[in-house]
Amino acid sequence: MTGYELSMVEESDIGIMARIHALSFDDAWTGAMIRRILAMPGAHGIVARHERKQTVSGFALLRQAADECEVLSLAVSPDLRGDGVGGFLLDGAMEYASVAGAIKLFLEVAEDNDVARRLYEGRGLAPVGRRPDYYTRKDGTTAAALTMSCPLEAQAVRAPG
Ligand SMILES: CC(C)(COP(=O)(O)OP(=O)(O)OC[C@H]1O[C@@H](n2cnc3c(N)ncnc32)[C@H](O)[C@@H]1OP(=O)(O)O)[C@@H](O)C(=O)NCCC(=O)NCCS
Repeated sequence: MTGYELSMVEESDIGIMARIHALSFDDAWTGAMIRRILAMPGAHGIVARHERKQTVSGFALLRQAADECEVLSLAVSPDLRGDGVGGFLLDGAMEYASVAGAIKLFLEVAEDNDVARRLYEGRGLAPVGRRPDYYTRKDGTTAAALTMSCPLEAQAVRAPG
């Protein structure tokens, strides 16, 4: 994607990730929470950086266990949405997971999150489960969680040298 690059999360990215998370979800994760998540076995974070400014525009937090990878969180700064950054991050997450040996990707998304569902469906994820009233919003309303999943293509192993 022109203008952006993906890289692994660095300590200095965590503050802006917490800010983007707070602007994206009702249950804001603090920097300390993001650090704890990243310290879990199999957890990784990917950020999309603006190539020229080097600012973090969005991130994906992943956790791999055996041959399955879960997207724990995916968010893009509100002022930069709709420009392909979310798709770029999801493609990067899928490639990263696949190279790390995962054969399946899964995640949970609020059933009424149409934008995220469109993004996921466009990348081949399909609903495989539903938990009613899983999320409670600040206004007290609830939403079901959909579990979505897709197989990952095996990555060709590059010959050494
Ligand atoms: C979901 C989210 C990460 C998408 O990031 P983004 O950078 O806006 O996504 P993209 O620009 O790559 O668009 C990806 C797809 O989403 C859909 N989409 C994006 N903006 C949309 C809009 N305003 N209305 C409808 N669909 C939209 C499109 O289908 C698009 O597919 P396309 O590439 O074929 O056009 C972002 O909206 C976000 O951070 N939302 C808040 C947090 C959240 O809901 N995260 C997911 C929780 S599981």
